[in-house]
Amino acid sequence: MKPSVLVTREVFDEVLAYLGEHFEVDANQGDVPFTPGELASRLAGKAGAMTTIVDRVDEALLVQCPELKAVCNIAVGFNNFDLAACTNHGVMATNTPGVLDDSTADFTWALILAAARRVGESERYLRNGQWHGWKLKQFLGTDVHHATLGILGMGRIGQKVARRAAGFDMQVIYHNNRRLPEDIERACNARYVSKDELLAGADFISVHAPYSQATHHLVSAAEFAKMKPGVVFIHASRGGVVDDAALVGALQSGRIGAAGLDVYEGEPKLNAELLKFENVVLTPHIASSSEATRRNMAMLSARNLVAALGGDTPPNLLNPEVKRS
Ligand code: DGY
Repeated sequence: MKPSVLVTREVFDEVLAYLGEHFEVDANQGDVPFTPGELASRLAGKAGAMTTIVDRVDEALLVQCPELKAVCNIAVGFNNFDLAACTNHGVMATNTPGVLDDSTADFTWALILAAARRVGESERYLRNGQWHGWKLKQFLGTDVHHATLGILGMGRIGQKVARRAAGFDMQVIYHNNRRLPEDIERACNARYVSKDELLAGADFISVHAPYSQATHHLVSAAEFAKMKPGVVFIHASRGGVVDDAALVGALQSGRIGAAGLDVYEGEPKLNAELLKFENVVLTPHIASSSEATRRNMAMLSARNLVAALGGDTPPNLLNPEVKRS
């Protein structure tokens, strides 16, 4: 008999077809997120699951699902997993690194350009019928070209963002928990600086750190206070890395000239104050959402699940120690 698996949210048909070759599949194609209780009951008796960032996999869930062997996120981020609990329960956990780097970096640039050049604000103006003709001083924005871009968090996605800056003749500075090898710095045309130097020196700041206890509120009031007045602030990594209340304060004080945001603390709810700023571009956590990339993410998650339950080491195993426990 084929093992049973749960797919917690809607996925593409080819992914379900592939899973169907290996498993009995219980798919939530209705796409209504499960409550923790619903997730536990739908997982009962299942050997594996394809999960998303809204599905919390922790001790409370795992004690209720003793047959579970693998949870495979359709995301590079995995802060919805308690990895230690997964390991203790003998559950392999996987994510989808790599396949979304370019799309996420492209989208970061969409936010940079839209925020700097007031795309959202001017489009709303036009759509509202307020445009009555060309004016010299209409929607004056901030130049991106030749400015200094500061990247906070220089992993795969940060590096892709940096490489794209060359086309805009920008200076790129970065800060990371560890300095990158010289050849990568050269390829990214990026200079390592301290966090304070980055905050003080960048005209644009883009945050690319995964969420963890260590990165909780990595950017908060103290950091905003050190930024150049008028800085353009971009965040497309994970809600909680930035202190959104402090961000609102920095927007209110004018410290931040414009912002482009794709992720929020406590999303999909967001700090209602953010909606009041015309100079903030707000998108609903879609940085990786190109058709091709979302298909690739879902298929990679499915491959991880097939490998995990087929006795192989999944390509993106996050807790390799699980196999020994
Ligand atoms: C990820 O992959 O972690 C993204 O945030 C999901 O879109």
